[in-house]
Amino acid sequence: MTLAIKDQIAIKSREKAMKRTGSPESNIILFTSAKGGSGCSFLANSIASYMALKTTSNICLLDMNIGRSDSRIVFDVNDRTIKDFGDIENDIERLDTGILKKVVINLESTLNLIVPPLEMNRTGIFKRDSLNRFIECLRDHFDIICIDMPAYLYSYIDMAEIDIADRFVFISLPDILSVNNNKTLIEYLEEIRPGLESYLVINKYNMRPAISPTGLANILKYPVASFIPYDRDIEFLVNTRGPAYLFNYNLRIARSITGLSRKIIEELGT
Ligand SMILES: Nc1ncnc2c1ncn2[C@@H]1O[C@H](COP(=O)(O)OP(=O)(O)OP(=O)(O)O)[C@@H](O)[C@H]1O
Ligand SMILES: [Mg+2]
Repeated sequence: MTLAIKDQIAIKSREKAMKRTGSPESNIILFTSAKGGSGCSFLANSIASYMALKTTSNICLLDMNIGRSDSRIVFDVNDRTIKDFGDIENDIERLDTGILKKVVINLESTLNLIVPPLEMNRTGIFKRDSLNRFIECLRDHFDIICIDMPAYLYSYIDMAEIDIADRFVFISLPDILSVNNNKTLIEYLEEIRPGLESYLVINKYNMRPAISPTGLANILKYPVASFIPYDRDIEFLVNTRGPAYLFNYNLRIARSITGLSRKIIEELGT
């Protein structure tokens, strides 16, 4: 399909607007899912933990789920004195290492975690210039930034204008609604981010209601990068002790998450 001249101009001007001013070596991996409960946070947390444990890169996990304490629980940082990115929303214009440090939690696994505000209305950081500045500052400080981004944020964030992702990981459950919603999301993003580099993951593939691999392929028309099984004991372990524990076990789920993490790392070339 050839794009009309005006579309080409529009894309060029977007590319210019999105031109990075942060560190050129940094990479942002955006984890997202068009349907709740698909395992978006589970995979963002696990893959970021794997990268922190097994590579020498400086890894940051940014949880953008405003109003949710999931990452505080999973990483056991459920302490009211912990600072979140809402606490620096008024300092964004003068954001530097000192200010950023206030919200970065250094976990034992060497993972650097940034948690969201628990007040639902603290959305100041999503204002275009603030978010650009915040992302730029993260790029300056970390090699790989994994973002756990809930789908409703696409209504706040102008994906065409903000350099918020180099790669996308879409997480879908193996059911018709989840797969179709993700397809719609991927198509929406491909339209505004031509050449989108992405991985499609089918999570909990061993759970019903499932679609056959052929059925999936027919709906999606995108290759599936990884199939991750559901494991009940691992759900309990990860939610109570943290995702780093997952990699102590030679289980199918640990092997698939390791495989996907390695694939992403290799393709980033870090
Ligand atoms: N493959 C898996 N094996 C075991 N547990 C899993 C797996 N995938 C997800 N879970 C668990 O399922 C639950 C829902 O997953 P998660 O919270 O990651 O979904 P989400 O897409 O982030 O949902 P939300 O829309 O609420 O943010 C969590 O308790 C998580 O630990
Ligand atoms: Mg989540």
